[in-house]
Amino acid sequence: MDQFEIQGGRPLKGRVTISGSKNAALPCLFATLLTDQVCTLDQVPALADIETALKLLVTLGKKVDRVGSKVVISKGRPLTGKAPYELVRRMRASVLVMGPLLARRKRAQVSMPGGCAIGARPVNYHIDGFHRMGVETTIHEGYVDARTKGLKGGLIPLPYPSVGASENLLMGAVLAKGTTIIQNAAREPEVVDLGRMLQKMGASIRGLETSEITIEGVKSLSGTSHTVIPDRIEAGTFMIAAGVTKGDILIENVNMAHLGNVVHSLKQAGLSVEPEGRSVRVTYVKKLKPVNIETDVYPAFPTDMQAQWITMMALTGGRSRVRETVFENRYLHVQELLRFGADISLAGRDAEVKGVAALSGCDCMVSDLRAGAALVLAGLAAKGKTTVLRVYHLDRGYERMEKKLQALGARIKRVSA
Ligand code: UD1
Repeated sequence: MDQFEIQGGRPLKGRVTISGSKNAALPCLFATLLTDQVCTLDQVPALADIETALKLLVTLGKKVDRVGSKVVISKGRPLTGKAPYELVRRMRASVLVMGPLLARRKRAQVSMPGGCAIGARPVNYHIDGFHRMGVETTIHEGYVDARTKGLKGGLIPLPYPSVGASENLLMGAVLAKGTTIIQNAAREPEVVDLGRMLQKMGASIRGLETSEITIEGVKSLSGTSHTVIPDRIEAGTFMIAAGVTKGDILIENVNMAHLGNVVHSLKQAGLSVEPEGRSVRVTYVKKLKPVNIETDVYPAFPTDMQAQWITMMALTGGRSRVRETVFENRYLHVQELLRFGADISLAGRDAEVKGVAALSGCDCMVSDLRAGAALVLAGLAAKGKTTVLRVYHLDRGYERMEKKLQALGARIKRVSA
């Protein structure tokens, strides 16, 4: 298992290029199951989760060729319909093959995703939605066995605007018979990116970017070429890196429209944020100020930036409050941040962060992807040496993280333990 060793306290300076979004690339990759024609996806990040998705596509019958950030997916064998435990347990997003497989094969057997570090994360909204489209499901030997005589359009009021459920149902609905209306749909940019790719494949979709998506099913879809959107969470993480290290970073390949709430909060905290075309320059100018945030569905402050935000708030000149409303147990980084000397107390969904003058380096352990980012940020800001264990969580979602940080002047190295 690899670990990072960080010698903290150096301001990060220079430029960094943001990779394609993991959370957009995953559903776009699975959408290629909806056609036998060739699909080319560009700006696909090299990450462990993407490797898992490509393995799953091959298991299901696709042929996958990758050159750099471009992935070409074509017909291999006839599609099979089983997403095995071995791959689903590595990545919950594997459940997103259910919609495409039901649409193409009328049957999907998908290993039930288990709980994960940040919460129970059930898939009941996905399954209830498919029931409304004429699907029957049973649970057998740990697998959801979903069958249909043919997907039918239906009215699907989601109890919560789940990103994954919106994507899964959207992918089923594009080839279903008749009209599907997903009410209370997620509006996240990653859902919209998937929708745009499906439109290019010939799908009839209205209402992307709104909470009511209407889909008229079509008979078949064609291949397409699609460039995945830049990763807004990676961009936000580098913005915070500029803040906590008192740095000055030009972040390239950013869609600022996707970062509205984060940028607003960063400015309130006292950072200079200057967009320059598809880039943004983030500069530390004065002592950081405390800013309260509450995570929620897009366009509110993203839960995937909450951990990194807490690291920054730990270094302000006052008290701030963070409320996590999306996941019930997403504060595993807090216990580790206390080891750096941060002053944070938790009460249910709330965290109270009292700024301290400085953090001090320590040994710490990553529990999940974004918690890991928060610990790396703390290590970069802290005085002395930090060792971050279990960086495989970071390899799931940050492309060449230590290399990008090194290019900005960070003293960070990967060590195989
Ligand atoms: C996606 C993102 C993840 C992000 C999250 C929220 C991917 C691969 N992952 O995850 O990085 O943190 O959106 O923005 O895109 N829920 C249910 N039942 C369901 C589905 C969800 O109770 O059937 C609950 C979850 O437990 C959670 C909340 O709804 O508390 C939000 O989950 P959801 O939006 O579905 O997140 P994911 O798609 O899993």
